Amino acid sequence: MSDAFTPAGITHYLPPDFLAMSLRRDVLAGLGKSPKTLPPKWFYDQRGSQLFERITLLEEYYPTRAEREALELHAEDIAAAAPAETLMELGSGSSRKTPLLLDALAAAGPLRRYIAVDVSDSALIAARKELAALYPALDLEAVAADFEHQLHLLPHEGCRMIAFLGGTIGNFEPEDRHQFLRSIRDCLRPGEGSLLIGTDLVKPPSVLVPAYDDAEGVTAEFNRNVLRVLNAELGADFDVDAFEHVALWNEREEWIEMRLRATRPMRVRLPGVDLEVDFAAGEDLRTEISAKFRPERFAADLDEAGFGVVGQWTDAAGRFGLTLAEPR
Ligand code: SAH
Ligand code: AVI
Repeated sequence: MSDAFTPAGITHYLPPDFLAMSLRRDVLAGLGKSPKTLPPKWFYDQRGSQLFERITLLEEYYPTRAEREALELHAEDIAAAAPAETLMELGSGSSRKTPLLLDALAAAGPLRRYIAVDVSDSALIAARKELAALYPALDLEAVAADFEHQLHLLPHEGCRMIAFLGGTIGNFEPEDRHQFLRSIRDCLRPGEGSLLIGTDLVKPPSVLVPAYDDAEGVTAEFNRNVLRVLNAELGADFDVDAFEHVALWNEREEWIEMRLRATRPMRVRLPGVDLEVDFAAGEDLRTEISAKFRPERFAADLDEAGFGVVGQWTDAAGRFGLTLAEPR
């Protein structure tokens, strides 16, 4: 999330009034309707980014381990199919899995530049420090930008691979997902490079639900963090502990929903947006969807957005997918 200053080493595309405008708009739109929703982008202040990193280490949260394994098994084939001069990663977070791709791309060809793109300054700063130590000869850039609205501002030169890992594509609403894929396609013409996307795959709710409702309660804290962000940024007076973490599997949509359920009736004031919101006891605020995919249907989504699928891979147990596509 943007700070008032520009930390050294980060290129800032987020406008100075990003918090002021974008958060306010999202809050007014999301809390002003029924059922109430908030977009997941606002989880990721410094504390939220740290909580997400703790989630990735939880026994129940298999996606990070499964995607890492899929990269360990297949990064070489992926890089051979799509060598690139630049790896640009959207929503890069800690960039912990990125070395697997960087090493494979360096072995396959002319890699010289890595661009990390995230809305979280703190994640970008930490990732840049770690990667600079590992890759002293690589041109490393950290870009604070919103991948939903600012793709057109990002560097366009050279042959590039755009990577979107972690299953973050599942956090978009379906129509926003299609729009996002189309906007990537608008930035990548045929012959200019490739797109690599990680997708968590459909599996039984007995595995999915605990991944979003861990025994230690880290995901619950991550979920409630969005209310802390609203308290800090908008002067809101959410009683954070009066909201219960809920994770449920929506069978029809094939997505996990994270919600915050009011445990008592509440009136919440948000002076930063001049709003008062009432919650009934038991009322839910939906804070995230995490869609799970079927490889063939995801290939069709990419086709619709103007991409041709080059290859699809998974970890050994078939829990998490990697899809490589090129613009048609
Ligand atoms: N790719 C990493 C991190 C996934 S967590 C991994 O696989 O572990 C999702 C990341 O996307 C967070 O770092 C968050 O700050 C970032 N993010 C969420 N919405 C974003 C947006 N609209 N624009 C840019 N980054 C965003
Ligand atoms: C970032 N994103 C892919 C995570 C997910 O699994 O949907 C965010 C997350 N939410 C709860 N746990 C992790």
